Amino acid sequence: MVNVSAFIDSTVGILGVNERANRETDSGLSTKYYDRVCPKVLPTIKRMVEDAVAQERRMGASLLRLHFHDCFVNGCDASVLLDQTSTIDTEKNAGANVNSARGFEVIDRIKSEVNKICGRPVVSCADILTIAARDSVVAHLWLDEEDLVVLSGAHTPGFAQCFTFRDHIYNDRNIDPAFADHLRTICPRVGGDSNLAPLDPTPSSFDTKYFNNLMRRRGVLKSDQVLFNNGETGELVSKYNEDKTKFFKDFAKSMIKMGKINLLTGNRGQVRDNYRRVNSQ
Ligand code: HEM
Repeated sequence: MVNVSAFIDSTVGILGVNERANRETDSGLSTKYYDRVCPKVLPTIKRMVEDAVAQERRMGASLLRLHFHDCFVNGCDASVLLDQTSTIDTEKNAGANVNSARGFEVIDRIKSEVNKICGRPVVSCADILTIAARDSVVAHLWLDEEDLVVLSGAHTPGFAQCFTFRDHIYNDRNIDPAFADHLRTICPRVGGDSNLAPLDPTPSSFDTKYFNNLMRRRGVLKSDQVLFNNGETGELVSKYNEDKTKFFKDFAKSMIKMGKINLLTGNRGQVRDNYRRVNSQ
């Protein structure tokens, strides 16, 4: 088992960073972009994410999830950060995000610190989300079934609110009855919608307990337990349960794949002055 900070160190340097901010040259991705334009960017984001996680351990998981939710709607364009306006129907109000997505204030704090340190807004919103996600643990969508299994391993840290797993614990059969009983003490049939249950028994650690849990029919979410339900994905679940190194390696690979979904590079995108609004022309 490794804790979240140890996982950060083992993944630093793996992810490519979006070069959409480089207007002078062309589009493309480079892991060295910020070394050139503002070398303090990456250490600053890392320090601020670590501070945020030190204040609230769950924040690492919340930032990771924010990155996933950004990438799965129209690609990794940081649209999840935009506030509602007369012309923008914000993703923040979408079913999967409302009363659920969190961590926006941390991204705001990082943005203003990085702007200050670099003297101008050089870091795109999508990069902040990507880097923060990495530092917190770390197709249409161009992802295959294997990616989805390994990415679901992102549910090793973090929590779920009662309303997201109520149906599973009261109505499904593919759940260990003792575990369902336990979750029912946290999540009553009526009320307590925001009561929290850890997604695996070690919610502050990035480990393989999530997969082990699925094999014991102790997945908290229905969407997790279906991965181990006499189907093809079950084999992968057992493999990751047995081989932590493979899980970490494949997870990093699939995160990179996910982080490249429909990136807006070069002039196709913009570095927003404020993450919550598109720049005025
Ligand atoms: C495959 C489809 C997925 C579904 C249906 C799903 C669904 C959910 C749900 C319902 C929650 C609980 C949210 C709440 O109670 O507010 C959750 C939490 C979480 N999800 Fe997913 N998820 C999926 C994939 C992913 C992926 C691919 C990632 C990241 C790569 C991810 C990262 C997380 C994290 C870290 C949490 C905990 C957040 C926290 O504690 O604040 N999920 N997910």
